[in-house]
Amino acid sequence: MIVAKFDRTYEGWRNAARRLVSAGAPPEDILWTADPSLFAAETLSVGTRNIAVPKPFVALADLISCHRDEAKWSLLYRVLYRIVQGERHLLAIESDPDVNVLYRMRKEITHDMHRMKAFVRFRKVDDRYISWHKPDHLIVEKMAPWFAERFGNMKWSILTPDRSAHWDLQKLTFGPGAPATEAPSEDALEDLWRAYYASTFNPNRVNEKALRNHVPARYWAAMPETEMIRGLIVDAKARGRQMCEAKPTSAAAFVPREATLPILRQAVHACRGCDLYECATQPVFGQGREDAQIVLVGEQPGEQEDLSGLPFVGPAGQLLDRALGDAGLNRGDLYLTNAVRHFRFEERGKRRIHKTASRSQVAACQPWLEAELGLIRPKLIVCMGATALLSVLGRAVRVSDVRGQALQHRYARAVTATVHPSFLLRVRERQSEEYSRFVEDLQFARRLVEA
Ligand code: URA
Repeated sequence: MIVAKFDRTYEGWRNAARRLVSAGAPPEDILWTADPSLFAAETLSVGTRNIAVPKPFVALADLISCHRDEAKWSLLYRVLYRIVQGERHLLAIESDPDVNVLYRMRKEITHDMHRMKAFVRFRKVDDRYISWHKPDHLIVEKMAPWFAERFGNMKWSILTPDRSAHWDLQKLTFGPGAPATEAPSEDALEDLWRAYYASTFNPNRVNEKALRNHVPARYWAAMPETEMIRGLIVDAKARGRQMCEAKPTSAAAFVPREATLPILRQAVHACRGCDLYECATQPVFGQGREDAQIVLVGEQPGEQEDLSGLPFVGPAGQLLDRALGDAGLNRGDLYLTNAVRHFRFEERGKRRIHKTASRSQVAACQPWLEAELGLIRPKLIVCMGATALLSVLGRAVRVSDVRGQALQHRYARAVTATVHPSFLLRVRERQSEEYSRFVEDLQFARRLVEA
C-alpha cells in the first residue's frame, strides 16, 4: 500500500497524482489521506515518462475537487491512471462506471453553484454586508469571484460552515468556516428585504410543497422572508398550488412587482420560468442607461455572455458596437437587452453551440422584457432579428416584412426592426452590403428619436 498524504486541496492532489502516475503506481495500491498519524511513502521513484493529461480532465478534476465526498480523490486518480495508460478518450464514454460517477458529481456541484447564486442574501452590519449560506459542496472559493464581480462595489463576507470568503472592494480573501449564529439576523438591510419581499410577494415561494422542492430546508434560516411565510401562506395556498403543479411556462411569477431595474437584475437569478436555467451558467440581464431613448433587443445570450453575465460582449456584440459607431450612435447612451435571459445551446464535444430559443421559451421569458420596457419607456425599441420581434410584438413577424417601418408599442413611441448582428457574421455573400443595410437601419432609428 502506498500512502499518499496530501492537504486535501486540488493542488495537493494534483502534485501527488502527477508523481504517482508517472511512477506507474496502480490506483488500487494507493491510500489517499490527510491523516497526520500515517507515514507517507517517501521514496516513490519519479518516472521519466512524459505525461500528457487532456485539458478537459484537468478542468473536470479541478471542479470535482469541490465535491464533499472524499472518495473523489481516489476516483479522480483511477480515471487519470486509465487515461495515461492508454484510454485517451475515456471521458467521452459516459456509460463507463467511473466516468458516470464523475459526471454525476459534476452535476451535483453545478446545481449547488446555481443554488448559491439564487439563495445568498446579504444583511448589512456596519459597513459590510454579511451572508450565511450552507452549500452542499465545498464551492465557496469557486463561487467567490462571481460574487465579487456582481457585488464588486460593496464590502461583503459570505460565511459557510466550511470556509468563509471576504471581499474588501479590491481583493478576495478566505478564512475558516463559521457557524450560523455568527450571521447577524436583525438590521436595516433585512427590514428592507422584508418590505421588498412583501411587496413583491410570490405565492410560488410560499407554497410549502414547492418551497421544499426548490429551497432545501437548510437555506430557510438564512432567508429573512421565511419568517413571513406563516402569515402569507393563509391566502396564498390555492394560488401557490395552482402555479406549482403545472410545469413552469412563464417567468411571470418570478418577476417582482413594482421593482426597479437593479431589483429585477437580482431577481432574475431565481427565475425558473422555463428549464433553460438548468444548463446555463447564469442569466444575462439587460444593461445600459435606465433613461435610454433607444432600447435594442437581441435574441438570447451567447457563449461569452453566458460566461460573463453581460449582454453583447461576444463577436455579435463587437460587430454591433462597430455598426453603432458607423451609424453615429453610442452604446453608452442605449439600453441593450434580450428576448431570452438564458443561453440555449447544444453540446457538441467540448463546444456549446447556440440553439434558437423555442416559441414557448420566448413567451416564458417575455415578462422580464415587459418589465424592463415598462420601467424604461424608451422613445424607440429596435428589434434585432425575428426572436426579438416575437417577444416585443407578441406575434411572429418576418424582419423583411417590417424593416424600415415604425410600428406601435404601448411602452414606446415606436418599434423598428433590423437583422440580428450574428446574421452578418454568418452571411457569406454580399456581406458588406448587408452590413451597410444594418447601419442604415440604425441610422433610421437615430433619425426617429431625433425627430
Ligand atoms: N446575441 C444576442 O442576441 N444577445 C446577446 O447578448 C449576445 C448575442
